[in-house]
Amino acid sequence: MNRTVPVAEQAAALRARIEDANHRYHVLDDPDISDAEYDRLMRELEAIEAAHPELASADSPTRRVGAAPSREFAEVTHAVPMLSLANAFSDEEVEDFVRKVGERLGLSEPLFSVEPKFDGLAISLRYERGVFVQGATRGDGERGEDVSANLRTIRAIPLRLRGSDWPQLLEVRGEVYMPRAGFAAWNAKALASAGKIKTLANPRNGAAGSLRQLDPRITAQRPLAFYAYALGAAEGGDLPTSHAATLQRLRQWGFPVSSLVDRAQGARGCLEYFARIGAQRDTLPFDIDGVVYKLDDLAAQRELGFVGRTPRWAIAHKFPAQEQQTRVEAIDVQIGRTGAATPTARLAPVSVGGVTVTNATLHNADQVARLDVRVGDTVIVRRAGDVIPEVVRVVPELRPAQARPWQMPEACPICGSAIVREDGEVVARCSGELTCAAQRAQALLHFASRRAMDIDGLGERYVEDLAEFGYLRSVADLYRLTLDDLLEMKRRADERDGTTPETVKAGKVASKWAENLIAAIDHSRRTTLARLLYALGIGHVGEGTAKALALRFGSIERIRHLPWPLLKLVPDVGDEVAHAIDSFFSQAGNQRVIDDLLASGVEISDEHAPSSKLRASLELSNVLAALGVPGLSEKRAHMLAAAFPQIQALLGAQHAQLVAAGLSDDAAGHFISWLGRAGHVALLRRCIQSLHELREALVDAGEEGASLPLEGQTVVLTGSLVSLTRDEAKARLEALGAKVAGSVSKKTSFVVAGSEAGSKLDKAQELGVEVWDEARLLAFIRSADLRT
Ligand code: IVH
Repeated sequence: MNRTVPVAEQAAALRARIEDANHRYHVLDDPDISDAEYDRLMRELEAIEAAHPELASADSPTRRVGAAPSREFAEVTHAVPMLSLANAFSDEEVEDFVRKVGERLGLSEPLFSVEPKFDGLAISLRYERGVFVQGATRGDGERGEDVSANLRTIRAIPLRLRGSDWPQLLEVRGEVYMPRAGFAAWNAKALASAGKIKTLANPRNGAAGSLRQLDPRITAQRPLAFYAYALGAAEGGDLPTSHAATLQRLRQWGFPVSSLVDRAQGARGCLEYFARIGAQRDTLPFDIDGVVYKLDDLAAQRELGFVGRTPRWAIAHKFPAQEQQTRVEAIDVQIGRTGAATPTARLAPVSVGGVTVTNATLHNADQVARLDVRVGDTVIVRRAGDVIPEVVRVVPELRPAQARPWQMPEACPICGSAIVREDGEVVARCSGELTCAAQRAQALLHFASRRAMDIDGLGERYVEDLAEFGYLRSVADLYRLTLDDLLEMKRRADERDGTTPETVKAGKVASKWAENLIAAIDHSRRTTLARLLYALGIGHVGEGTAKALALRFGSIERIRHLPWPLLKLVPDVGDEVAHAIDSFFSQAGNQRVIDDLLASGVEISDEHAPSSKLRASLELSNVLAALGVPGLSEKRAHMLAAAFPQIQALLGAQHAQLVAAGLSDDAAGHFISWLGRAGHVALLRRCIQSLHELREALVDAGEEGASLPLEGQTVVLTGSLVSLTRDEAKARLEALGAKVAGSVSKKTSFVVAGSEAGSKLDKAQELGVEVWDEARLLAFIRSADLRT
């Protein structure tokens, strides 16, 4: 006995601490301990309760993790019925409601407590002497189902009330909901589970389905939350006299009450609130489907009473539905910059949430198959905020008999090139690349963007106009544009828009614009290899990959002819990237564009011999290992290359010879069947050829190859330079092999300090790191340019 007293106290203290942490985390949104600390406290409490079963209590947080499943839910009769609300869909209906309330009470501008209408599931929570004893669904309003075990798993619901001024018997009413983030995370997990976990249709279904689980351990895994918004039965205690004060009291007892609740006077105040919440709706972390106006004075509420099952003193003002039903008239394919072919449903126009919707995305072919959307189908479309409307599901009963399953077309609707879907890819793409008009406009914008060719003033509108009037077929055409072309284009665009400017001033503005654009285009001609590679818009090739390629191979001529296994010699270039680059350069149209660019004066300022970094990897063994033949590890590839220094012998090798060279039986089989597949022998020959060429280029450049002057050095830029922008300086340094970092450390090779250099310069001096001024940087760049 002596020992159980302190243990009981210990358990009580742990329970209080854990529930306090729950409250801070789930209600106040202000956690004060780490997850690890929380878990530690829980384990401690579990251990005590396991050792002392007599200490187990109904309000213990250990009971939240999920009790044993039950066969069915018991029926619960609500002490005070759970009613529903009448709906208003227009300003007039709200004005009507407020007028009637005012007339009945003899008030002109009654005061309302105003709240979001949460889109979840109504529940009632019963507390006896401050402890949670039972929770139930609404059911038919009189009787619901006992889902106590499931509700216990929701950490936002207090198991014990805080403070002490609560009624001995208390029923709290509110909404269980699934936050949008939790819903999205759940569905992401479900999609990744390959059918093991079912996706949820929307957060409301998610909340309702979770509470209906007979196994509370399942509910415990669902991301559920709760908001309190009213009281049911309450006996043995004083209560506030207004609804707003009741909500405040609920907060003090430990319940989450939305911070969006407010008070509003008369119809005008209510409608203002409706507009305010409506404007925030899309950015809220949970779904709402309207707002609720409740007469604030509880005595006045009692005076008004009910009609049937709905109170006269409250009304729900609903937002227009976000989902609507309409018919699919066609399924088209849209082509993006990277050629991604997105199936899009063309719909009979329908108003969804106040906006007319005529298109909805179907994302990809898998999604079309999953939904089984067919032309002629009646579908439910949803629009949420600014996001593209999407098809939620098909209404199968309304499908016309002749509707056939949809298939991705084989040819691009814009350019006729094949639409291909690589193995394992979700997205199908038009293979036309820069020859496809739809991809071209997007590609042009990317080409001209700041981090690519950096053509100032070539925005979306001009690109589209230039493309529309046939001045830009490919990015190379940019460099052939004349002043007259631009003025002519502008004149035609003005004519088309009916805005023909006649004045002398307008003419001057137009010619100034054209001159500036020509100058900007001209300026962009001299560029770096990395910028040009990035500007081409090759799939998966971002700035980083473009720089790495430029650094290793040094010239566009080399890069544009490399087979994919050699591209993989660059660190961080994996299969996917290497294939994307190879397939880009395999298109004759793309090669033509590069020829055109170079012919029209695009000049790469920093081409150089292959870098010495490449030297070590220019071995047959590395190429063999890059092929991805199962079982052909780096080590085995090495053995194979040593045994077959001549490619001819390797191509003709027998199974037994391969095994003798050190391959496993399986690997030898895989290698032979790899060679047997179409194009593979030719590919391997190309690889060997490129390998030789790169080696020769290295030898020509002197044994070491182009070891870039700043290779292996880390440089930090600070302050402002006069003759270069920060980006330009960074690009020049990187072209010389340096890594440009954001902060100074002992590893920094040197700091380039412009004027008004601040803390980075101080840090450099403190650490004794070398500091260069702008003049020294420029001199260095110039001398390096002479060398390469
Ligand atoms: S008060 C007598 N307040 O709307 C009034 N209900 O039709 C009792 N709801 O099933 C309800 N948010 O699930 C109230 N702030 C809110 C609400 C709300 C959502 C739901 C509740 C109920 C339905 C009423």
